[in-house]
Amino acid sequence: MPIAAARTDGQWSRHSRLPAPSGVITVWAAEGHPRTCGVEPPGQARRMQHRSWPAPYRPHAVQTIERASPGRYRVVPPTRLRPSRAGGCNRSPSRIWARSEGWDMADGYRGKRVVVTGCASGIGAAVAKALLAQGAHVIGLDRIASPHGLDKFLAVDLADPAAIDTMLTTLAAGGAVDALFNCAGLAPTQPKLAILKVNFLGTRHLTEGMATLMPPGSAIVSVSSNGGLRWRAQRALLLDLIRRDGFAEGLAWLEARADEIINGYAFAKQALTVWTLHESARLIEQGIRLNCTSPGAVETPMLREIEEKMPGAAIDAATVPIGRRSAPEEQVGPLLFLGSQAASYVNGVDLAVDGGYAATVALGE
Ligand code: NAI
Repeated sequence: MPIAAARTDGQWSRHSRLPAPSGVITVWAAEGHPRTCGVEPPGQARRMQHRSWPAPYRPHAVQTIERASPGRYRVVPPTRLRPSRAGGCNRSPSRIWARSEGWDMADGYRGKRVVVTGCASGIGAAVAKALLAQGAHVIGLDRIASPHGLDKFLAVDLADPAAIDTMLTTLAAGGAVDALFNCAGLAPTQPKLAILKVNFLGTRHLTEGMATLMPPGSAIVSVSSNGGLRWRAQRALLLDLIRRDGFAEGLAWLEARADEIINGYAFAKQALTVWTLHESARLIEQGIRLNCTSPGAVETPMLREIEEKMPGAAIDAATVPIGRRSAPEEQVGPLLFLGSQAASYVNGVDLAVDGGYAATVALGE
């Protein structure tokens, strides 16, 4: 159960069982009690989200709790959340933030707090720049510093779950996150286990932690790859992997099968795509949409790294039928669409952004 009740009108409450310091909490709405919510510190929030929680409580929002003294606290009024028509919190998340009506394509990210991983280079840098131009508050994550003048940059190594957790604590202190763009990734030329850690396990770990900071109506979009296009051929194996909870369990599973996994990049991207489709059904219960894109060849530093080891003709074989490679900026529109309220009814989708290559594969051409 939520460990304490709190008022949603910004007034102070008292409860000796609320040990959490000031920070982000999950607020659980109590049906029939629009001015009272149950609250959970973040460590317990994820467990709650993954079990069916008995009525009348439902996950409602992630908000900041402020503690004046031990046992005295208040939920900071939800300035970012669009209030439900009932004015309280006793509505399911999908009803609170439901529609794309009135959403302005050019202005939809203004004032939103968005996180972009891989912000220092390639697709992530292009996404971060586009979001800044739209007036978003952009927080970039990468293992190398970004030169793109973001609102905030946090260094993190996605191969290190402890570093991800530390970064999430820092991020949580600043409030809720409206959108997450997972663009970081390692090239196929890197060591297999490193790729599997960064491109799947670390991305999943970060996304699961970030979801506890995201209110209903927010969205997550990951950059997968058309390198992972053929996931259906090993669906059962991939589902077995994604059922391993957490970074350490997933890594143990992958290490045990390292010899069977021939192409670490393709396997990591297949896992990311399958996990996206699978997890989207759970996250939408909290009002969070989860989608991914699968680009074809994109002219970024990663592609240059690949081309040093692989003939350009082999890369270009996957640019049919469009007959050219993508600029990083051409990946931005689909990503921003999926992360926005314009896509409010799009969930669990892997969107090919590859000039039509996936269509030729689907038709067996
Ligand atoms: P990029 O190499 O230009 O950028 C990748 C970014 O991820 C870099 O800033 C890098 O520092 C960061 N990164 C790598 N490892 C990290 C780690 N352990 N922790 C934190 N950050 C880390 O590559 P690009 O092309 O922009 O790739 C972006 C995403 O798009 C990747 O997930 C990639 O797999 C995917 N993709 C790229 C394609 C291409 O042709 N360039 C095609 C299909 C998918």
